[in-house]
Amino acid sequence: MQVMHSWRADEYDEKARFVSEEAGEILRWLDARPGERILDLGCGSGVIARDLMRRGCSVLGLDIDPDMLRAARARGVSVVQGSGEQLPFEQEFDAVFSNAALHWMSANPAAVAEGVARALKPGGRFVAEFGGHGNMAAVITALRAVARRRGSHEAEEVLASSWYFPSPEDYRTLLERNGLVVERIELAPRPTVLPGSLGDWLNMFCSSFLAQFGEDAGVVVAEVEDLLRPVLCDSSGRWTADYVRLRVLARKPR
Ligand code: BEZ
Repeated sequence: MQVMHSWRADEYDEKARFVSEEAGEILRWLDARPGERILDLGCGSGVIARDLMRRGCSVLGLDIDPDMLRAARARGVSVVQGSGEQLPFEQEFDAVFSNAALHWMSANPAAVAEGVARALKPGGRFVAEFGGHGNMAAVITALRAVARRRGSHEAEEVLASSWYFPSPEDYRTLLERNGLVVERIELAPRPTVLPGSLGDWLNMFCSSFLAQFGEDAGVVVAEVEDLLRPVLCDSSGRWTADYVRLRVLARKPR
């Protein structure tokens, strides 16, 4: 089952600003230099692409979502609409960069890796951070439990195919099969304090899952929050998402 998620860029910029704010570590791995040609794969609303341009890089943002692309264009980013699973580039980029996007490209990760390898110039690098093995384990378990309690096998299926959270071993194998040499790969827990409630997060990021429940979606959100409050919410009502990041730096041989 292929699940398509659509975005509202204004809401994303307001409620999910932490996604680009938390990108400091992977930007250090990228170590972008002025004059480099960089593909931002899954550029979203273009916050990071714009920052890379300010550092003197020539950036192309690619995203599948028209509303995100409009927001990126408004930030002055050159963009192209497309799927990460069908990248059309041949040896064009010094670096392909991706933050918090590859886990959404869950239908065919091998096609993403093949397209990334093809898009890089010889000697070019692929630097990415996204959800890795165990990402959001508590949240996903609670979503599955609530879906089961309601007898919704369809919702469980939507969940299973919504995201791609590989282990470092599996992702290394995938990249190596596509001719990339992995220089650095790590799985790092990164508990992330949410700016609002877990319900806000669910409404933004799990809309395909929630859509299965129609007008009961609000009740489902409340049930998931009830299950998770003891483990993800502190005494002041602050929610922390159990993010686990996979970070990778891989190179195309010369
Ligand atoms: C993540 O960034 O890890 C993520 C975001 C939304 C849904 C699932 C995972």
